[in-house]
Amino acid sequence: CGIVGIVGEITVADRLIEGLRRVEYRGYDSAGIAVAGRDGHVERRRATGKLKELDRVLDANPADGVTGIAHTRWATHGAPTETNAHPHRAGRVYVVHNGIIENFRELRDEMEAAGRRFETQTDTEVVAQVIDYELEKSGDPKAAFEATLHRLRGAFALAVLIEGMPDLIMGAREGAPLVVGFGEGEGFLGSDPLALAPFTQRVAYLEEGDYVFVTKRKTEIFDRKGQPARRQEKLVQLSAALAEKGNYRHFMEKEIHEQPEVIARTLTHYVDPFRLVVRPFESIDFKQYDRILIVACGTAGYAGQVAGYWIEQIAGMPVRNEVASEFRYRDPAVSKRDLALFISQSGETADTLAAMRFCKDRGLTTAVVVNAAHSTMAREADIALPTLAGPEIGVASTKAFTCQLAALAMIAINAGRARGHIDANREKELVTGLLEAPRDVSKALEMEDEAKRIAGELTQSRSVLYLGRGVYYPLAQEGALKLKEISYLHAEAYAAGELKHGPIALIEENLPVVVVAPHDHLWDKTMSTMQEVAARGARVILVTDSAGLAACDVKREDVILLPDCAPIASPIVAAVAIQLLAYHAAVYKGTDVDQPRNLAKSVTVE
Ligand code: G6P
Repeated sequence: CGIVGIVGEITVADRLIEGLRRVEYRGYDSAGIAVAGRDGHVERRRATGKLKELDRVLDANPADGVTGIAHTRWATHGAPTETNAHPHRAGRVYVVHNGIIENFRELRDEMEAAGRRFETQTDTEVVAQVIDYELEKSGDPKAAFEATLHRLRGAFALAVLIEGMPDLIMGAREGAPLVVGFGEGEGFLGSDPLALAPFTQRVAYLEEGDYVFVTKRKTEIFDRKGQPARRQEKLVQLSAALAEKGNYRHFMEKEIHEQPEVIARTLTHYVDPFRLVVRPFESIDFKQYDRILIVACGTAGYAGQVAGYWIEQIAGMPVRNEVASEFRYRDPAVSKRDLALFISQSGETADTLAAMRFCKDRGLTTAVVVNAAHSTMAREADIALPTLAGPEIGVASTKAFTCQLAALAMIAINAGRARGHIDANREKELVTGLLEAPRDVSKALEMEDEAKRIAGELTQSRSVLYLGRGVYYPLAQEGALKLKEISYLHAEAYAAGELKHGPIALIEENLPVVVVAPHDHLWDKTMSTMQEVAARGARVILVTDSAGLAACDVKREDVILLPDCAPIASPIVAAVAIQLLAYHAAVYKGTDVDQPRNLAKSVTVE
């Protein structure tokens, strides 16, 4: 979810909305603001649905104030109704909150026993109630906030506004990110520097357990123990323009088209382009480890699976791929000779972060492939390996995925070299192939019209099957995920060889089956599977390259033709085809491409 807070002297509602707009992708079930006027009087406006609904409410019923807090929500406790929308209020206290308060029932019972009446079932209201209760006791907002924080258990980021105190917002971070922003005669709080990009580039990241009092003139940060803390001010280079759509219809479309550039940027971070070698990661000695454990969620997990194939093949190192939400609750058997590798665009996904902390506790070395450079995972991992995709706003991940593949290929090559599994020639060949990926991806984008036409046809079906083998199996899974998350068409992916063990029963006349199969050493095997489905009446759509096209009898109009490229770059290039298919299917269906229903970009709850 997104949080914005501003303490200032001029009307603030519009700016709060402007900040929220930048982080709306984090959750968009409902939105709300509370603003305090110079006289301390607080007005609150809330609306279910997207931010534009809140905009409408504010047009009809403006809220005047100079200091305020704002929130967009992704529902956890309680339905996305207006009553459950943030800010929540108790007495004089208004609270917006990301995350979960684990002991909220216990605190609620206690507050009710003290005679307090609740309006909602949410954990956030409990926070407001406890602060207000403490405020009534002491009359001191800061002491009330500190006393409350001592009592909260869980993972949260909070911003608090108090009636009668227009020169103060309070914030706290425990398990969910929060940044403070510095301005001239103004102060800011945000869940993400992006939220503050329209107002300031000077930010400081709070650390776990920190809390902060922001006024017009100063920002006071304290650590968990209540000691004044200094958190380094950083200049964030995010221009507000980065978060604009430009000439594109959707962020997702823009992000698909940005891929050649951001993949190149990511690769050049790791490669010495003159010697055509990957710069060694000084902090990782791959010979020290027996195995790489790869843990992630969603799209990042599929990037991890591709990496699994690469690392085994290029470095001869065993890999275990894990879904973070399973791994963390399983009491998994790990060893200090495992290198624990996490993959996350946001660096904040709760399950992945918990898995990382578990591995740290067990004494494993932790590395993260991460896009958000200042995120929690980037800071907590022993080794942070960046992807340089820039902010990704579309909820369905595209450029972050291909940049993850680029960075993961670098890990595979580095491991292969360090363990003597590949020689200098092979390394040069791999690096050369990868350095051509940006150009190959540009060429792949030229088949957008083909993908668009086929996508239109897919929307006529109720269900679509994706098949792939080897590295193209995770690509097939990613293809099915993309299609279902933004077009709401039902889609499933199978390893091509698994089809005969059950799923083939699903094949019926005209069922679209997308086969992701550039011409590689497994081509013949995948072709037999394709024949099996075609023979049963399926409508095959083949994603392949020119060698594949020449070697198959699929009609040209049923082929999405990828440019020829090096095998190592091929999954990156094939990703473009499945992204375009999903994107155009969603556009045909008229869904909300950038903010599909029920989803959120960064899932900071379990
Ligand atoms: C959410 C997003 C997905 C993303 C996943 C992992 O489910 O909707 O697009 O792949 O989280 O996010 P992360 O930020 O950890 O890569």
